[in-house]
Amino acid sequence: MFDLPAQRAHLSEKYDLTPSPELAASMTDIYDRMSRVVSPVDWAIYAPYVKAIIDLKAERNAVILGHNYMTPEIYHGISDFGGDSLQLAIRATEVEADVIVQCGVHFMAETSKILSPTKTVLMPDMEAGCSLAESITAEGIEEMRTRYPGAPVVSYVNTTAEVKAASDICCTSSNAAQIVAAQDSHTVIMTPDRYLAQNVARDVPQKNVVWWEGSCIVHEQYSASDLRDFRRWNPGTRLIAHPECPPDVVAESDFSGSTSGIIKYVTDEKPEKALLITECSMASNIADELPEVEFVGPCNMCPYMKKITLEKVLFALDTMTGQIEVDADVAVKARQSVQRMIDLSRQLGI
Ligand code: 13P
Ligand code: SF4
Repeated sequence: MFDLPAQRAHLSEKYDLTPSPELAASMTDIYDRMSRVVSPVDWAIYAPYVKAIIDLKAERNAVILGHNYMTPEIYHGISDFGGDSLQLAIRATEVEADVIVQCGVHFMAETSKILSPTKTVLMPDMEAGCSLAESITAEGIEEMRTRYPGAPVVSYVNTTAEVKAASDICCTSSNAAQIVAAQDSHTVIMTPDRYLAQNVARDVPQKNVVWWEGSCIVHEQYSASDLRDFRRWNPGTRLIAHPECPPDVVAESDFSGSTSGIIKYVTDEKPEKALLITECSMASNIADELPEVEFVGPCNMCPYMKKITLEKVLFALDTMTGQIEVDADVAVKARQSVQRMIDLSRQLGI
């Protein structure tokens, strides 16, 4: 369990973390990337943490990988690379650093460790999980194999290392349809997200896609009737959904894609008004780059992603705690599944 008071006491002995308008003013190059969504008062609170983390990164030869759902002070303030699950997984294979700090959720850090076993991978809060990753175990994969003999198992990267090891290949939301279409079998098992699988089944009608009954607690909250109401009350708004949303929600939207696919769509299209049907921080992270787009609510927060804070990142880097370990045999098999996905994605030009 997390001992926040002890962490705070440790940090306050080593760092001056008092809010500082002067320090904040000296870091406007960073603040300019988030000034539309982070107030100057909040920036004065964040700046000492951002400065301490940047200094410590250099000392430890560390890089920070920030998922698109991180809050702006993490995404723009301290991350060396931002991106969706696939992009971060690929980055993990490319970085030269000794230490990777994963600002995202646990399965992402595990994926980085699987791909870079010699690097130290730090997770600022081990309790940053994922409802999808928690919905299936390696036994669940075997159950599906028994139910559909001979069918390949395509598991979303939002899974534990054990589940990846028990699968044939991984996918992310940016390559799921293509990975399924490329399988050498009519029936393809997709785990653990039933909605992603149903969305893929619609896009790849030549395959018989069968699925595990997991779901994302953030995206399952949206309903098609909410979207219809929203469109009626806010005409002209572009509705953009993540494929972890139920299929009728995706059908009501104007575009569906991975978190980076969504960013690309909004950046290319620059709609006057956009509703991102996904996690809240997505819109905040692109608001400054796209001043011409008005991002309208509602949005849902991922309680797991929101466990990652500047304070926890600083503590992890300072103490080198929160190191990810993966059993060596499991890691070898899990790596095969992730690497097959990366290789196939490259081959398919994704
Ligand atoms: P992306 O692969 O689109 O970044 O999605 C990861 C995730 O957890 C979305 O809920
Ligand atoms: Fe998991 Fe959903 Fe949170 Fe993504 S948004 S980490 S899928 S719970």
